Amino acid sequence: MEKIAIYPGSFDPITNGHLDIIERGLNIFDKIIVAILCNPAKNPLFTVEERIDILKECFRDNHNIEIDSFGGLLVDYAAKKGAHAILRGMRAVSDFDYEFQLALMNRRLNRDVQTVFLMTGLRWIYISSSTVKEAARFGADIDELVPYIVNCKLKEKFGHSCK
Ligand code: PNS
Repeated sequence: MEKIAIYPGSFDPITNGHLDIIERGLNIFDKIIVAILCNPAKNPLFTVEERIDILKECFRDNHNIEIDSFGGLLVDYAAKKGAHAILRGMRAVSDFDYEFQLALMNRRLNRDVQTVFLMTGLRWIYISSSTVKEAARFGADIDELVPYIVNCKLKEKFGHSCK
């Protein structure tokens, strides 16, 4: 049976920390579905369509990665996609409380879907989509923290030029 995992998130935008989790996740799973949550309550920098395009560009040579978006409950989406695992990255202890709640709620909702955590690579432990956006907004150099396309798109959004 094909081992499929959902890697859900906002990805507003994707960072090198996310990429690292996906690359390492592919050592465990046959296929990873990177799924963007459509959340009307949030006020994202990039639209869902923009985020899908960015992710497709990042993974255009990876045939075992699918890019998608979803609404509603994650476990329902996982069941629909035939996935038995949810992949999540964990940075510092500060992530633990939220991730623990999410994993336990998902387990309560569907016991056939397991949450698998990977520790974020040390190089990326301090970065998040929010800090990357904030730094980029004020013109800071973040090219080592995000994929090339994200660096360009952030510069475009904030009116800086892309090398
Ligand atoms: O990147 P994020 O914002 O930390 O990702 C959070 C995400 C998308 C994993 C989480 O908000 C989610 O799964 N939302 C869908 C609704 C759901 O199933 N919630 C968990 C049970 S209440």
